[in-house]
Amino acid sequence: MSTLAAPETTTLRFPPGFWWGAATAAYQIEGSVDADGRTPSIWDTFAATPGAVAGGDTGAHAADHYRRWPGDVALMRSLGLGAYRFSVAWPRVRAAGGGLNARGLDFYDRLVDALCAAGIRPVATLYHWDLPQELEDRGGWRHRDTAACFAEYAAAAGARLGDRVQLWNTLNEPWCSAFLGYGAGVHAPGGASYADALRATHHLLLAHGLAAQALRRAHPAARVGVAVNAGTVRPVTASAADRDAARRIDGLLNRLFLDPLLRAAYPADVQADTAPWTDWSFVRDGDLATIAQPLDALGVNYYQPDLVGAGAGPERPYPTGGTVAFHPVPGPVTGMGWPVDPTGLTDMLVRITRDYGPLPLFVTENGAAYPDAVDGGRVADPERVDYLHRHLAAAHAAIGRGVDLRGYFVWSLLDNFEWAFGYAQRFGLVHVDYATQRRTAKDSARWYREVIAANGVPR
Ligand code: NOJ
Repeated sequence: MSTLAAPETTTLRFPPGFWWGAATAAYQIEGSVDADGRTPSIWDTFAATPGAVAGGDTGAHAADHYRRWPGDVALMRSLGLGAYRFSVAWPRVRAAGGGLNARGLDFYDRLVDALCAAGIRPVATLYHWDLPQELEDRGGWRHRDTAACFAEYAAAAGARLGDRVQLWNTLNEPWCSAFLGYGAGVHAPGGASYADALRATHHLLLAHGLAAQALRRAHPAARVGVAVNAGTVRPVTASAADRDAARRIDGLLNRLFLDPLLRAAYPADVQADTAPWTDWSFVRDGDLATIAQPLDALGVNYYQPDLVGAGAGPERPYPTGGTVAFHPVPGPVTGMGWPVDPTGLTDMLVRITRDYGPLPLFVTENGAAYPDAVDGGRVADPERVDYLHRHLAAAHAAIGRGVDLRGYFVWSLLDNFEWAFGYAQRFGLVHVDYATQRRTAKDSARWYREVIAANGVPR
């Protein structure tokens, strides 16, 4: 009799111990922006700026998670989540004028305890875009000192939570902080200078390296990572000009971050491309060694690929002088108008493994917004189920090609404040009625629970 298991014919099974999670971020769900000594962040300021956020929405109340967290943890448990990625709000932890606001950390301490008691691994992000406004007033990420302040905050968070947090993400999507926040002006703090965006990039990366050191000093066993919005960039034709356009965007979106983090060097072609905007004099001796701290895992947030070519294109958000055209990706789009193309996820995971050496990867965000509504107590969201199913199959395919993928986090657990789009875009597995704060698990949440229970998706 053969001892070999029968080949799986119905399920794409993930490796044993795979982390099945969902993700959120502080400003997007917590509300209670004045509670317990929290100080304003750049997103409070930006959202209060007329015209900055759709519908004039702000994070003042959001999903009221700061007060409803026990129920939300119970909800996670009912979904069978094995891990939960949340962010710590720096403006809750940093006291007005500097120093530590212990009450801010109390909140996360209780949350982390509750997660552990529910058997859910806490995964903490330290910077999900909510810079304390006081630090922005001193220059924000344009200013090198902000990186040092971030390391102090990381040390405090590490000392308080590091005995239970299973994985840290120092930064979330530093490209967005730098290029959307300081270059394109569509995210807080609303800056529109590519010189600043590139300075901010470097100081964010430096902040990551200093924070990684601080977290490990606080807890030598700390597992440290960072979450990047890696996007697969494809040329619209195989012509040399279109391939060069793809190289430029890939450089600014991906290699500008991955090379310093994983190779201790900025890509020479990106430095040359950006010479009209900056002389890179903000990079000091030793910075790259600090940035390239060993990573226990890299987080990849994936939503969509880009299709680009040479030609007249937008001036923003990339510093290209408007020489790169963005082409529509054929196929369906989500409520955000983002193309649904899971092959971009497989390609990105395989490419990182190939170009940067084998390293543990997590999909720290993946998901889709659709205009969901509650009908008779139910939210039917077949498009989200299809999106998640296809992307999980794509992640599975990457594992089959040698990628060391350790886990996957749906964006998002709850409907929430979608930055410049306000509450109009709903990414949650769980619907939130903002008037009553009632939570309703969508069909996708029930589907995900079955995926978790099976440790796999239907083939
Ligand atoms: C990435 C960001 O990390 C998250 O905050 C955002 O809501 C999702 N993408 C969807 O845009």
